Amino acid sequence: MVAGTLKAHIEDAVEVMQRTGAVMVPRGEAEVLAAHVFGVPVAELALDGEPDEESLARYRALVHRRSEGVPLGYLTGSASLSGVEVEVGPGVFVPLIVSEAVVAAGLGAIAELPAPLVVDLCAGSGAFALAVAHHAPGATVHAVEHDPDALAYARRNRARRAALGDRPVELHQGDVTLPATLAELNGTVDLVLSSPPYQPQEAAVPDEFGVHQPREAVFGGPDGLHVTRHVVEAAARLLRPGGTLVLEHGHQHGETVPALLRADGRFTDVSEHPDAYMGYPLYALARRAAP
Ligand SMILES: C[S@@+](CC[C@H](N)C(=O)[O-])C[C@H]1O[C@@H](n2cnc3c(N)ncnc32)[C@H](O)[C@@H]1O
Repeated sequence: MVAGTLKAHIEDAVEVMQRTGAVMVPRGEAEVLAAHVFGVPVAELALDGEPDEESLARYRALVHRRSEGVPLGYLTGSASLSGVEVEVGPGVFVPLIVSEAVVAAGLGAIAELPAPLVVDLCAGSGAFALAVAHHAPGATVHAVEHDPDALAYARRNRARRAALGDRPVELHQGDVTLPATLAELNGTVDLVLSSPPYQPQEAAVPDEFGVHQPREAVFGGPDGLHVTRHVVEAAARLLRPGGTLVLEHGHQHGETVPALLRADGRFTDVSEHPDAYMGYPLYALARRAAP
């Protein structure tokens, strides 16, 4: 037995994470990692118990890797977005908690439609598409992703959600920069959601993003907007008149992305929205104008 309660070991882990500065919410993540090691929800951790040596060694190793910037989801193997858990790991982007606002805005836009048609461009693990399929059971949801490694996660996540009773999403290996991608849906889609890679390629980002996650999921060319411009183009052709685009972007793009949408000329009602935690610009919402 190793001396010290689990509570004390979690305090140590918080200190280690705080020292390296790699983790924004050290206490929450220290608890999540402990819950992962002991196979219980955070609320059921036996804080006053003394962990066995082997579990403690595993815990410390995970805390160490997290302090080096390895994403929490890569260590636990899962992440949750809008109440839907997805498998994640090396090779796929870990959904950001702030993106729940993007999904919520999309769900709000289709709330009155009994059978909406939805497209998730740059789908990664499929988190956006699967969250919409779960919360809008009448929706038909398509998701496009070009990276085969990411798509493999999305396929497994799709299968798991379908087994739990959600309508299966349609996964497409495709490049959102190509006009042929989902061309059969042109002019018919009610909602396009997208979180493309949006960091400028020279941006100094934490190792969690710049080192550990796939570059093509994080960086979007010199100004960060290379894929975003194509997503705007794709949304303009896919959406029906009155259909909605919800487009996540970097906090440095709170003016440029709405300006891009206004300059395009095919969108109306362009609005900009902050994230719910830090108040940074997070996503733009726009409606497809009538031709
Ligand atoms: C920031 S991640 C977002 C994934 C997911 N929506 C999420 O929030 O977890 C961006 C994704 O876009 C994909 N991607 C980048 N360029 C693409 C392209 N041209 N066509 C399709 N997918 C692309 C990347 O592989 C990555 O999975």
